[in-house]
Amino acid sequence: MSTTSQTSGKMPKPIPTATGPQDAITLLTEDHEHVKSLFEQYEELGDRAHVSKHKLALQICEELTKHATAEEEIFYPAVRAATKDDDMLDEAVVEHASAKDLIAQIISADPGEELFDAKVKVLGELIDHHVKEEEGEMFPKARKAKLDLLALGQAIAARKEEIELPPTAI
Ligand SMILES: [Fe+2]
Ligand SMILES: [Fe+2]
Repeated sequence: MSTTSQTSGKMPKPIPTATGPQDAITLLTEDHEHVKSLFEQYEELGDRAHVSKHKLALQICEELTKHATAEEEIFYPAVRAATKDDDMLDEAVVEHASAKDLIAQIISADPGEELFDAKVKVLGELIDHHVKEEEGEMFPKARKAKLDLLALGQAIAARKEEIELPPTAI
């Protein structure tokens, strides 16, 4: 794995409070780091532990679904309006669509099936690429655009609470 966390060093870290409201970029960046650690845990489970791997894969799918939905409904429209960078936002939405397609395949798959690990791995690679673009390009532009990041962060946190995977998945 060639994953490193070089991008996190560049970002100023405002309001590092665990309990208070977080600005949107801090919240989304923490989500990225959390899901990255889940992918790493999945990788470490190796060829055994189908049950734990299945649980972990579903957790990854759930976290990503909450995150991506809140981004699409709240963060992306605000960044699009403020930056007018349609190409950047369109690309992000298309990457989300690819991720959602894989997520749907993982949710409905049998954990023992041959391609299960490959699906999780490809999802991890796709997300890794997507996160690099968000943290390297979109978030700095959003910061420059002087959005109300605290209000957006609160809206994103509230929306994430509401989103669940279909109960049949878990
Ligand atoms: Fe994101
Ligand atoms: Fe995203």
